[in-house]
Amino acid sequence: MKHLLKLADLTSEEIYGILNLADQLKYERKNNIGHPYLKGKKLGMIFQKSSTRTRVSFEVGMYELGGNALFLSDRDLQIGRGEPIKDTIRVLSRYLDGIMIRTFAQQDVEDLAKYGSIPIINGLTDYCHPCQVLADLMTIREYKGGFKGLKLCFVGDGNNMANSLIVGGIKTGMEVSIACPDDYRPDPDICEWARKNGTLNVTSDLFEAVRDADVVYTDVWASMGQEGEKAIREKVFKNFCVNKELMAHAKADAMVLHCLPAHRGEEITDEVFEAHAQEIFDEAENRLHAQKAVLVKLLKQ
Ligand code: CP
Ligand code: NVA
Repeated sequence: MKHLLKLADLTSEEIYGILNLADQLKYERKNNIGHPYLKGKKLGMIFQKSSTRTRVSFEVGMYELGGNALFLSDRDLQIGRGEPIKDTIRVLSRYLDGIMIRTFAQQDVEDLAKYGSIPIINGLTDYCHPCQVLADLMTIREYKGGFKGLKLCFVGDGNNMANSLIVGGIKTGMEVSIACPDDYRPDPDICEWARKNGTLNVTSDLFEAVRDADVVYTDVWASMGQEGEKAIREKVFKNFCVNKELMAHAKADAMVLHCLPAHRGEEITDEVFEAHAQEIFDEAENRLHAQKAVLVKLLKQ
C-alpha cells in the first residue's frame, strides 16, 4: 500500500490490517503508552473545502505519532491562483513525507499520486471519503464484534459517503443497501463492482432498504460544493430522514452512524441522533485512531 486514494485500491487484508493497527493505537493511547512511530515525519494537509474532524484528527494524529502536520489552505497556496497541482506536488515532495488532501475532483488526488513521490491520502473528494469509512468500519466492529452477516444500510444522497460505504461494506463481507431518490444513486461503476463481489440493493424504498439492518447510516442532503442545489435537494430528499418510524424497521439493536456534520430535522431527527450519540461520537473519535494507523502504514520506514 503506497497511497490511500480510495478504498477500492485496498485489499480486504489491507483494510483489516489498518483496523487492527487502529485498535492497537487506540488501546495504547487510552493506557498512556507512547507510540512515536513517525518521529520527525512531516505531513502536509491541503484543504480546498472546510473541515473540523479531518483537520484536527490528522493534526493531532501526527503530533501523537511524534511528527508534525502543516495546514495548507488553498486560500493561501498558489494552487488557489492557478499553479497546477502537478507542479505543486513535485515541489511539496521535496519538503514533506506525505500529503493529505481534501478537494473536489478525485482526478486531482490521483494526479498527486502520479506526479508526486510521497504517499497521498484522500481526506474527501466528491467521489469518496475513505478515511471516514475506515473509522466507520472500526466502530461497527467495536459494537458488533465483526462484519460477517451484518446488513449496512445508507439512507440519503448517493454521494461520496455512499460510494465509500458500498466499497468498505462489500470488502468486509457485509450486505449493503442504499435508500436514495432515483436520480441520486451512487456511482454506477461502484454499484456494478459491488453486485459482482457481494450483495447490494439500491432502492428508493426507505423501508425496504432499512428492513432488518444492523447499521443505519446517513449523511447530509447537500454536500460541500452543492450549496447552490440546497433548495431543490430539500424537496427531493424530504422523506429521506432517519426517524423513529424508519428505525422501527431496522433490527432492535441496530446502531446509527453519521459521518458528521449532521443537520437535525433534515437527514436525521434530533431524537434518533441523541439516542445514538454514543455510537456517533465514538465513530468521530475513531477517525483519529484509524487515520493514525493509515499514517503509520504509509509513512513509517
Ligand atoms: N466527517 C468529516 O470528514 O468531518 P469534517 O468535514 O469536519 O472533516
Ligand atoms: N457528503 C459530505 C460529507 C462530509 C464529511 C460532504 O461531502 O460534504
